[in-house]
Amino acid sequence: MSTTKILITGATGYIGGAILSALLNSRDAKNYEISALVRKPEYVTTLSAKGVTGILFQSLDDLTTIKEAATNHDVVINAASASHDQSAIAIIEGLAERRKNTGVHTAIIHTSGTSILADRPISGEWIDTAIYSDLDDIYSYEKNHREIYSQRVVDLAVVETGEKLGVTTFIIVPPTIYGKGNGFFSTISQQVPNLTRLAIKKGQAFVLGKGEGIWNHVHILDLAPLYTLILHSFLTKSPIPSGKPGIYFAETGEHTWLEVSQGIAKAAVAHGLLKDQAIGSISLAEAAKETGIDERLIELALGSNSRARADLSRNIGWEPSRGNLEFYAHFEAEVGAVAKEYK
Ligand SMILES: NC(=O)c1ccc[n+]([C@@H]2O[C@H](COP(=O)([O-])OP(=O)(O)OC[C@H]3O[C@@H](n4cnc5c(N)ncnc54)[C@H](OP(=O)(O)O)[C@@H]3O)[C@@H](O)[C@H]2O)c1
Repeated sequence: MSTTKILITGATGYIGGAILSALLNSRDAKNYEISALVRKPEYVTTLSAKGVTGILFQSLDDLTTIKEAATNHDVVINAASASHDQSAIAIIEGLAERRKNTGVHTAIIHTSGTSILADRPISGEWIDTAIYSDLDDIYSYEKNHREIYSQRVVDLAVVETGEKLGVTTFIIVPPTIYGKGNGFFSTISQQVPNLTRLAIKKGQAFVLGKGEGIWNHVHILDLAPLYTLILHSFLTKSPIPSGKPGIYFAETGEHTWLEVSQGIAKAAVAHGLLKDQAIGSISLAEAAKETGIDERLIELALGSNSRARADLSRNIGWEPSRGNLEFYAHFEAEVGAVAKEYK
């Protein structure tokens, strides 16, 4: 295999950091020349010591730098934002230029999230407890959805711009990601730590409504290998789905929001962060006030049903090794990490 130039966004984050480590530790690492778009000079220094070239940019709105960087790479792994369509489009435009200039096939592996499947059970607008497989036509599901939602907008833009400009697209759609990451910078996730901080602020763990919504989970160290698997398959020309059918879920089990809050409460009591394990119930309006996040978004993010099955990912050889047991056991460590912020 000749050298492949890979660019990653979000390398200082939880997901991107774990992907970068997986790339550096992969069997093909010697064939990869890896760069990362980052916002601070100190990140460039840290990455340089790991053999990764840092490229400075201002933000995801710095479309000129993003496009130019993509033009100099064969594959871009986009793990900075699931909700920023213009940067994803700039990446694909740059990869199309690369293909035009070199004749080499180019690809983007974009990160979405299973809130694309989320319903609205708290407001009662619509309830959808169906389980979606990534063997289903997820592109059409997103295209024909009743509601415009940023992550679906980006997914559609990625697929359609890729098709138009001749760039291969893969979209990975993680659910709640948990566990300690192994990136060089941020190594903790968002949902459980954020809920823990809120529980501490309110003096009690809570759920929206009754907390009956069901979501999936995946451990960060099971998720990252799905990226390297898809990358390897693309580079070795294995015939795996891309474009419209190339939307891959990643899950290893399900939980309810109530179970998450119970896990947080138990661990928070053990760490002396809460007095008891009682679970309160709050309204969308209260949750929005507490978090500063829009009511519409918080319903999707913290109260919905979103049920996925990663059948396609497993069909192409993804072999996650952690399941429900690891998920239910992880609260202790994740709440423990948040506890350090309060010392
Ligand atoms: N964690 C989850 O459970 C989960 C599940 C599904 C989907 N997702 C989605 O995946 C994406 C990444 O998640 P994460 O958990 O890895 O988040 P994270 O730890 O906060 O990392 C975000 C990364 O993206 C970069 N970034 C964010 N906004 C940027 C901007 N405006 N300009 C330039 N760089 C920017 C950050 O750079 P700096 O270091 O410079 O801030 C960081 O490298 C998010 O869109 C998230 O919604 C997350």
